[in-house]
Amino acid sequence: MDKLEDLLHALKAAAEPTRLRLLAICARSELTVSEITDIVGQSQPRVSRHLKLLCNAGLLIRYREQHWVFYRVPRSGAGAGFAASLLAQLPAADVQLELDRRRVESVLQRRAEAARALVEGDGPGAARVEDEATVDALILTSLRGEAIGELLDIGTGSGRMLRLLGEGAGRAVGIDISRAMLMLARSNLHAAGLDHLLVRQGNMYQLRFPDCSFDTVTIDQVLFEAEQPGQVLREAARVLRRGGRLLLVEFLTADTAADTSAPADDCVAIDRRRLDGWFDDAGLALEHWQQLPGHPYPVFLSVARREPRDKKVAA
Ligand SMILES: C[S@@+](CC[C@H](N)C(=O)[O-])C[C@H]1O[C@@H](n2cnc3c(N)ncnc32)[C@H](O)[C@@H]1O
Repeated sequence: MDKLEDLLHALKAAAEPTRLRLLAICARSELTVSEITDIVGQSQPRVSRHLKLLCNAGLLIRYREQHWVFYRVPRSGAGAGFAASLLAQLPAADVQLELDRRRVESVLQRRAEAARALVEGDGPGAARVEDEATVDALILTSLRGEAIGELLDIGTGSGRMLRLLGEGAGRAVGIDISRAMLMLARSNLHAAGLDHLLVRQGNMYQLRFPDCSFDTVTIDQVLFEAEQPGQVLREAARVLRRGGRLLLVEFLTADTAADTSAPADDCVAIDRRRLDGWFDDAGLALEHWQQLPGHPYPVFLSVARREPRDKKVAA
């Protein structure tokens, strides 16, 4: 911390038993006020007051998702280092902290079950890749040779791409419109020990990130259900840094001009010609691709690069 008064402020905020517990609790996962209230067993107004003090001192950060407010320990900024050093001092065998740890786990367990119940029948439906492990291995191979850097996963769903690539990323964010999916992704990331990766509610047609924010963007099995796939690719290109890479995993039909069969339920018929047009329009140059077995259509796994200059990408 740069100023002495900021340090004193942070010390005062932390020097209270419940607030120290809250710091340890929020270091384990992003939690809502009502989840935190359940864990510490105190009244909500009291817990909210403590959380506010910790936020004002920079030891916690909060963000809103619809009607819910989540709290977590910051990973960057002035309070992050101080919070990390306080957390490192906490006694490993403290009975109260151990009890809190177990309560966090059971809250997250309940959250995971609720999320799974909510998304049941709401997932990718009948569309699926034939062999997920092979697709995962091919994704890793296709992106090898360059750092993942800052990663955005669009339509993160269960958080599969974040789990696969997030560990190697400098920063990783997944966005999804569905709160149920976000809860599921959070639970999956927690189970994988990847709580530091962020999932946020967002609309893929209007991403809330400035131009040129990410080195790698992934879109995995999202376009086939999208109303405006071309707009999703334009947004992906806009937030990619120049020279950044887009990894796209998508179901692709044969050429729809020649194909007279009706598209499978819930699947927009995307063919190679249309995809090439959208790539071109977004200023993305296809670098390499391969086709793999999938249902109801084959899966097209590709890496495209945002063109380094010239083409103006429409917002
Ligand atoms: C078929 S799932 C793919 C999920 C993910 N790749 C996975 O393997 O778990 C498509 C995802 O896109 C999300 N989605 C649909 N419309 C969206 C939008 N407008 N903005 C952001 N996400 C959206 C859905 O909620 C869903 O989680």
